[in-house]
Amino acid sequence: MSAVERICVVGAGNMGHQIALCAAMAGFKVKCTDVSAGILQRAEQFVETYLPGRVKKGRLTEEQAKRARANITFVPTLEIAAAGADLVIEAISEKLSLKRQVFAELDHCSPPHAILATNSSFIVSSEIADATRRPGQVLNMHFFNPALVMKVVEVVQGPHVADTSAATVIEVAKQMGKTPVLLKREVYGFLVNRILGAINREAFWLYERGVASLEDIDLAVVNGLGHPMGPFRLMDLTGIDLAYDIGMERFRETGDPTDRPPPTVVAKFVKGEFGEKTGRGFYEYPDEKGRASGTCPADGQTRPSGHG
Ligand code: 3HC
Repeated sequence: MSAVERICVVGAGNMGHQIALCAAMAGFKVKCTDVSAGILQRAEQFVETYLPGRVKKGRLTEEQAKRARANITFVPTLEIAAAGADLVIEAISEKLSLKRQVFAELDHCSPPHAILATNSSFIVSSEIADATRRPGQVLNMHFFNPALVMKVVEVVQGPHVADTSAATVIEVAKQMGKTPVLLKREVYGFLVNRILGAINREAFWLYERGVASLEDIDLAVVNGLGHPMGPFRLMDLTGIDLAYDIGMERFRETGDPTDRPPPTVVAKFVKGEFGEKTGRGFYEYPDEKGRASGTCPADGQTRPSGHG
């Protein structure tokens, strides 16, 4: 058992609310916060419907659901959320300057022993750690979407990270029922997103040159490689806005034009078509039910209207 009992999750969006709920279901006392009252409210509503749904489906007992619900609270400020935390998991947007600002604040309002982890998809923690006075306790703990389902958690031990911090976070991930993998050195994008990035680059190359429709590229990946979703459908799940932010942030850092988001992503971003969360991305998600199940050609039988 790790020394961690209380977890603070900063950011209640796509990833944060599910990370918080995973932790609560595993028995941790969780406080979750977000700068947006609307997002925080939606996160709480999700918990209110998700847990009874799991009971109805026979995945949880009434007692387990009740305990998980009691373990999680949604609070309006960082100060309240971080007070008393043993571990903080930051899951805000993918902007380095914002993350550094939040970590500086967390350094002031969380207990000195607390480990501060970032769920960043790509940014290594050494770019953030020096915004705090505890660099040895700042590291990457990267979950995957949907965090309630996906098992892997990447833990990245940069040169500044204390062995005890990495070991504690690995233990917490195990207690959450996850499969942690340790990166012994820092690399932009870690393991999974580097591999996924290579797939996505190929998918855009094929689509933007008119080799195949995005639906057929997705069908090929699902039925030819056995992936649960094709790259375009997956981007609708993780957020086209995230793909845009990541590309722009990387381009700002490297100045390399090939790091820019591809034109197809830019076009969707400009239209505000971010994927499931906005009801339309590369595919359409006409209602909440459709968003939850994903009206995608996962088995090659159903065929949504694509919007490439
Ligand atoms: N939230 C919570 N639970 C969900 C969910 C969601 N959005 N979507 C599906 N589930 C749960 C269902 O409740 C169901 O649980 P149960 O079997 O215990 O009742 C289970 O997942 C299976 O769901 P479905 O039968 O409805 O649908 P599928 O079998 O098609 O699975 C999927 C849906 C799990 C999303 C599957 O399609 C999948 O694994 N897709 C690939 C996901 C992936 O690759 N994620 C990584 C993305 S990269 C990333 O996250 C990087 C980061 O940095 C952004």
